[in-house]
Amino acid sequence: MKKAIAITILLATLASCSDSTYQDIETPPVITTPTTPTIPTTPTTPTTPTTPSTALTYTKDVKSIIDANCISCHQSGRSAAFRPLTTFAQVKAAVESAGLLNRIQLQSGQQGLMPQGGRMSQANIDAIVKWNTDGLKEN
Ligand code: HEC
Repeated sequence: MKKAIAITILLATLASCSDSTYQDIETPPVITTPTTPTIPTTPTTPTTPTTPSTALTYTKDVKSIIDANCISCHQSGRSAAFRPLTTFAQVKAAVESAGLLNRIQLQSGQQGLMPQGGRMSQANIDAIVKWNTDGLKEN
């Protein structure tokens, strides 16, 4: 009988042993810090370099046109001596207050067209118009 009790106790002990869970001892997982995702930067559209536009000047671009087409009359002793166009200041003043730009852009045959003999080439007219647009610079 004692033996039976002993076996029972032993069995019970074994049973309780087998109930207990066996835990593996593992190396704890290495917790890696998540890397912050880099936000891609929006590509900037490259700016197109602006071609430096060379401003037209009286000395460089206008004087030769006026000399060739206007001063035969627009200087002292000639038919249009009242409005000389032989210097930068005079030509600038004629653009600003005597309608020079209008006069040179009239159509052939229109009253007041300058030069009186006939319209200049469009290139010459455009140059004087642009000189005005560029700010009537001397040099
Ligand atoms: C053949 C002579 C002659 C030529 C060349 C000539 N002009 Fe005249 N211009 C005149 C006469 C004359 C007048 C005055 C009568 C008039 O207003 O139309 C005059 C008037 C002007 C006036 C008005 C002046 C004012 O104070 O009212 C301007 C501006 C002018 N001319 C610009 C020019 C320009 C610029 C050229 C050359 C592209 C030119 N002219 C070529 C004879 C000429």
